[in-house]
Amino acid sequence: MEGLETQLGSLRLKTPLLSASGVYGLDYETIISSRPYLGAAVTKSVTLHPRQGNPEPRIAETRAGMLNAIGLQNPGIAVFVAEEIPKLRTLEVPVIASIAGEEIDEYVQCAEILSTREEIHAIELNVSCPNVEKGGIEFGCDESVLEDLVVRVRKVALGKTLIVKLTPNVTDIAAIAQAAIRGGANALCVINTLRGMAIDVETQKPALGNRIGGLSGIGIHPVAVYAVYKCYTTCCKKNNIPIIGLGGVTSAAEALELILAGATCVGIGTAMFREPNVFETVAKGMQQYLQKHGAKSIRELIGKAV
Ligand SMILES: Cc1cc2nc3c(=O)[nH]c(=O)nc-3n(C[C@H](O)[C@H](O)[C@H](O)COP(=O)(O)O)c2cc1C
Repeated sequence: MEGLETQLGSLRLKTPLLSASGVYGLDYETIISSRPYLGAAVTKSVTLHPRQGNPEPRIAETRAGMLNAIGLQNPGIAVFVAEEIPKLRTLEVPVIASIAGEEIDEYVQCAEILSTREEIHAIELNVSCPNVEKGGIEFGCDESVLEDLVVRVRKVALGKTLIVKLTPNVTDIAAIAQAAIRGGANALCVINTLRGMAIDVETQKPALGNRIGGLSGIGIHPVAVYAVYKCYTTCCKKNNIPIIGLGGVTSAAEALELILAGATCVGIGTAMFREPNVFETVAKGMQQYLQKHGAKSIRELIGKAV
């Protein structure tokens, strides 16, 4: 789309808009109908072995977004390769495969399998998973564990753009971002959901079967803007590492905020539940903004506010 073309690592994208991992499940209808406005599609996180996910209920609405505790339900990498990859081929947009695991070796094995597939253009590491080897602390919460993970995946993910998706549930997201870059990340995705909880006051029980979940949607948007700004100004700009900003984007204005804070691309997740046409609305709104502000390309705006 005119003015919206951009570049993420070695990927050339026709718009900076990406589908957020997991929100679209393994159902590609919304992706297909949004194709003209999408730069790339990100798959649900896949693990080495199949996962049943968490007990129901897995979703709870909040006043400014939603909580989810899906628990990485997925069919495992073997079924993903046999059944999902052929469908991804028909999407006609670059595909970013998200992988997750409870041990570094699980990530490495998934990355090794995917790195041989030409249908997969980039690999995103979902590091908001408990590391069983380190007593359950999330990979994305410990700088040295994260660096080690990225180094080991980088070695096998030959020729693929490697994206590390950061969790906001840390004290210093810039320190974690730096660890990912030291490990060899080509891009960062900022942010995953914020840890949260809701209680049903009538039943006096947690609203989610898993008790705790991840908050997404409009309520987390300012947290995402801050996280993008912090990563961009601390380490991404000087290392030339592009950022995919996401969290609570529902309109062109929110997407532009993330870009002005330093993001190269923008992911959209939860907003799609309310507005299936959100990619069209945001892409067209961005083009109108470029015209109004006399800018030729969206790339001129990256980090302009900071
Ligand atoms: C139902 C649901 C499932 C999700 N599944 C994943 C997942 O499998 N992997 C992942 O990295 N992020 C997952 N996320 C997080 C989103 O990709 C995104 O980082 C987050 O929702 C913030 O963006 P949003 O406010 O636009 O939804 C999920 C979010 C939701 C709401």
